[in-house]
Amino acid sequence: MATTASLKIDDKEYPLPVIIGTEGEKAVDTRALRTASGYVSFDQGYGNTGSCESQITYLDGDNGILRHRGYPIEQLAHFSDFVETAYLVIYGELPNPAQRKEFGLNLRKNAVIETQMQKILEGFPTSASPMAMLSAMVSALPAYYPHLATNNFEQDLKHFDSAAAIAMSKIRTIVAMIYRYQKGLPFVFPKQELPFCENFLHMLFSEPYQDYVPVPEVAKALNLVLLLHADHEQNCSTSTVRMVGSSASNLFTSISAGICALAGPLHGGANVAVMQMLQSIHDEGDDGSRFIAAAKSGSKSNRLMGFGHAVYRNFDPRAKIIGEACDTVLTRLGIDDPLLKIAKNLEQAALKDDYFVSRRLYPNVDFYSGIIMRAIGIPMNMFTTMFAIGRAPGYIANWREVAANPKGRIYRPRQIYMGAVKRDYVPMAQRA
Ligand code: CMC
Repeated sequence: MATTASLKIDDKEYPLPVIIGTEGEKAVDTRALRTASGYVSFDQGYGNTGSCESQITYLDGDNGILRHRGYPIEQLAHFSDFVETAYLVIYGELPNPAQRKEFGLNLRKNAVIETQMQKILEGFPTSASPMAMLSAMVSALPAYYPHLATNNFEQDLKHFDSAAAIAMSKIRTIVAMIYRYQKGLPFVFPKQELPFCENFLHMLFSEPYQDYVPVPEVAKALNLVLLLHADHEQNCSTSTVRMVGSSASNLFTSISAGICALAGPLHGGANVAVMQMLQSIHDEGDDGSRFIAAAKSGSKSNRLMGFGHAVYRNFDPRAKIIGEACDTVLTRLGIDDPLLKIAKNLEQAALKDDYFVSRRLYPNVDFYSGIIMRAIGIPMNMFTTMFAIGRAPGYIANWREVAANPKGRIYRPRQIYMGAVKRDYVPMAQRA
């Protein structure tokens, strides 16, 4: 394989080093190009740009491959659970029993949100967007844990284990509190003895004198949904975490920025948009053809939600796993959800349609995740916050890579300026 490439501009040739990843991914290193030639590379939205070297997740979009730290997502989904996968994503290895126990303990003891912080939540209108509340609450964490969030990499890395456990555990608690707050219900405190997902369900659904004890299928389904979201390479929100982190911002601040990026309907918000679409097909008694026809118009606001992916061009392996799990979970819970039938019909229709086939648009993870969350009893407006709980390990691991990289530098892309050329200031009186 080539170790250098070259770029010819006019008569001059510029040698460019080639970087080859452990899975054979190839990149041309253009870092020195500007100094050598005055040219920058242009790549709108960084779609063909490697913004970092990373050891966390390998994704091959053409072949539908997703691996965390080398482990295929299919094996993790089958054998692991969310907390173990989170440990793997964050620390690089599957935990041994002692490490798993300590990690679990750390998550358990950091689950509570202090009374003062609760007051921030209670300051929001109950109708506020859950993602707006979640990002604001997470961005407030440095105020409560200043010693873990000094905005100094060396210092913050010394306390990484605590900060990571606080971020993961408290994001989950905050989401449960947002749910209760919006419903006008009193907060439920976490229980030390409960595992991560069961504790979350307890904080969501328990009532005074009546603890919610999920059937094993529900806890398992929740584990699967969160696990499948644990990390996904340099997606929009994770890149945001890295970008913010690169300025030496602490873990909590960087994650909060990632949560803001996740909120958009083209990213994490898609799971809500999918359910809205399915619900509206159901309400109108349509077979989905209206949505398919509108999606084919090419307008960004009419896309078939839950379809397509910025990197998967064949299938999204997470969608395959979650689509199959959907059937199992709903059958075991005895739920006959008409939206599942609509989703399946829509998928079949789209997969036969030349517009989607020729553009290699397939269902993504969000196409079926909402149906499982609905079966668990999570309301639609909370879906994207569930994605945030799941993605927290990925944010944490990526922030750590940035913070621990001795050769790291602040993320600062270039641009090609296309605005007005230099002109002189015009006094107000002379303006038309
Ligand atoms: N419905 C209709 N047309 C689509 C769709 C869609 N869902 N997605 C892409 N296209 C079209 C797009 O308009 C373009 O058409 P043309 O070549 O005629 O201009 C073509 O397909 C190629 O688009 P692309 O370059 O593959 O799309 P992208 O990389 O700009 O966007 C995406 C990727 C995920 C934002 C987009 O597919 C989309 O908007 N999907 C719906 C929203 C969604 O489900 N998002 C969740 C993504 S998975 C969770 C996550 O990781 O965030």
